[in-house]
Amino acid sequence: APAVIIAPSILSSDFARLADEAVRMEKCGTEYLHVDCMDGHFVPNLTIGPPVVKSLRNHTPLFLDCHLMVSNPGQWVEELAAAGANGVTFHIECFCEAPYDKDEPGPYVGLQSRSEIEGARALAKKIRALDMKTGIALRPRTPLSAVKHLLDEGLIDILLAMTVEPGFGGQKFMESVLDKVAEARNLYPDLAIEVDGGISPKTVAKAVKAGANVLVAGSAIFGAENAKEVIDTLRRGG
Ligand code: DX5
Ligand code: ZN
Repeated sequence: APAVIIAPSILSSDFARLADEAVRMEKCGTEYLHVDCMDGHFVPNLTIGPPVVKSLRNHTPLFLDCHLMVSNPGQWVEELAAAGANGVTFHIECFCEAPYDKDEPGPYVGLQSRSEIEGARALAKKIRALDMKTGIALRPRTPLSAVKHLLDEGLIDILLAMTVEPGFGGQKFMESVLDKVAEARNLYPDLAIEVDGGISPKTVAKAVKAGANVLVAGSAIFGAENAKEVIDTLRRGG
C-alpha cells in the first residue's frame, strides 16, 4: 500500500481559531488538512465552504483535502479550486436516483442509469481539469461496485470509504466497512484509500490492516491533550 498520510479533520477543531489549528497540525507533521464541507441537505449539518478554504489557504501549506457532503457537488468545484483546495472528494450517492436510507439493512443499490454514471464521470474529470486531486466517497452501505467504472477508467486519485454515516464528528467506527476497504486494496494496490469516521489509536490498526493509507481523524486528534502523540500513533498504525 502507498505511504501513510494523516489528515486531521478540522470539523473537530475550534472554528474560531482555524488558522492556529492549521499551523499546529503542520507542526505535528501531518500531510493533509481534511475539510468537511456540508450543505445541510446531503447531511443534516452545515459547515464550511469555499470562503473558509480561501482564508485557510493563506495560513497553511498543507494539502487541503475537501470532503464534499453536499447534494450538488458540481456547483462548488470551480470556487474550491480558486480558493486553493488541493483535492475535492464527492459522494457517489449524489448521482444515484435511489434514496439512501442509512437504517435499511444490506447494501445500497448504487448507480443504475446511464445518466447517473455520466454525471459522476464528468465531475471526476472536471476536478482533475481544475488541477486538483479527485476523490470519490462511499457512504457505509454503498458498495465498491458503485464506483468501479470510475476507478477502472483511472479517473480517481483517492477512494474515501466512510467508516461512519457522514454528518458529524465523534461517532462510533463501523468495522463492517473494512471488508470494502480490503476489497478495494486487493483490486487497486497503488490507489490512495482513505478512511473517515471514528479513526483513533484504538481503531486504526484494523483500518490499516485492511489496506487504508489515508487516515482522517477529528475528535481523536483535536480532543486529545497531546495531538502529536495521537498523530504519531496513527502513523505507526496503532
Ligand atoms: C463526518 C466527517 C468526518 C469527521 C470525522 O461526516 O466526514 O471527517 O470529521 O470525525 P471523527 O474522527 O471524530 O469521527
Ligand atoms: Zn470527512
